[in-house]
Amino acid sequence: MSQPDRSFHVARRGLLRHVAALATAGGVGDALAQGGSAAPALPLPVPASMQTPGAPVGTKLYGEPSPFESKVVRNVAPKLPQYISASSRTPLQDLDGIITPNGLFYERHHGGIPTIDPASHRLALHGLVKTPLLFTVDELRRFPSVTTIHFLECSGNPSYKKPFGKTASDIMGLVSCAEWTGVALKTLLEEAGLLPGARWVVAEGADAAGMTRSVPLDKCLDDALIVYSQNGERLRPEQGYPVRLLLPGFEGNMSVKWLRRLKVVDAPVHSREETAKYTDLLPDGTARQFTFTMEAKSIITAPSGGQRIASPGFVEIRGLAWSGRGKIARVDVSVDGGRNWTEATLHDPVLSRALTRFTLPWRWDGAPTILQSRAVDESGYVQPDFSELLSARGENSFYHNNAVQPWRVAASGEVSNANA
Ligand code: CO
Repeated sequence: MSQPDRSFHVARRGLLRHVAALATAGGVGDALAQGGSAAPALPLPVPASMQTPGAPVGTKLYGEPSPFESKVVRNVAPKLPQYISASSRTPLQDLDGIITPNGLFYERHHGGIPTIDPASHRLALHGLVKTPLLFTVDELRRFPSVTTIHFLECSGNPSYKKPFGKTASDIMGLVSCAEWTGVALKTLLEEAGLLPGARWVVAEGADAAGMTRSVPLDKCLDDALIVYSQNGERLRPEQGYPVRLLLPGFEGNMSVKWLRRLKVVDAPVHSREETAKYTDLLPDGTARQFTFTMEAKSIITAPSGGQRIASPGFVEIRGLAWSGRGKIARVDVSVDGGRNWTEATLHDPVLSRALTRFTLPWRWDGAPTILQSRAVDESGYVQPDFSELLSARGENSFYHNNAVQPWRVAASGEVSNANA
């Protein structure tokens, strides 16, 4: 009869030894030892939530976050000349995982958010095609469907201008990631039939800006989607309801929202958004045009600017990495201002052109230091330092800043933007 007792004691001693060993190594046991409070007084008090029934089913027919999470909202600059052509940022530092909730997905509008009745909305496909077509939303939904997970990112995320901002959201919140459902643009182009000379497709939005971008035909025949759903539900108005274009890995403004027209042409149309804007001015006065791909990037979201490490000891460094060229192959993290780099753990799923989660266990000794991450994608491209970007493109550039983001950790545990 004493056998079970003995094994229990052995197991418990083993567990304590295990925790002690981890604590010495600065592992999880250490975090538990430092993170917990004193032993609870028993019996535990019965909380109010157990003494009366909670809210009935159906109290909210469309659910929303706990009232205690009311500060987790989109980040909108407090002082802008106007809010019609403007952006809101995803609170990256407050989220977990790779999927951005629809209510927190970043926004960039050029003429405000239109209200569009799907019953009257039409998508025209014309130009260099055998049969011009006009689709209702219901007709688009009848085509074979595709569901895929991709990030979407503004090409001005972040800008080149210091001080960039304080939090991960201020600096890199113009990126989000969702599961998208729609019809492959290739399917629609095959339905219409391409004529000789077809090289580009001009996409036009039904917003007040008439947002217009030229898209190379090879992208349209590759992974471009006409999307009607995001994270399982129909697109939100601010994401292009009822249909939008999605060009995985390309700068966000090309994924034209409220899509009303696709014209197949032989050459780009040089619209405002590909001449006056969304080009990259170089030191010699020339500008790069049609820089579509969002290059590899990463950011540590915890601990990050505006947060505070509670005490020395175990800290799990957490972050996100992504590349418009495909999958993330590796993320290296430095906890000493870039002198040494350690390969972080990538967490499944590691998907092409999607946010990818990485973590690295760290023991903070309480000394001031600088944390940073550096992504490498499957093409072998390595995320650059800001100084490397400046030497290549000069100070006049505005878009496509994918530089390493350093965070300063003070002795107090306060974390701030080391670029500020
Ligand atoms: Co560009």
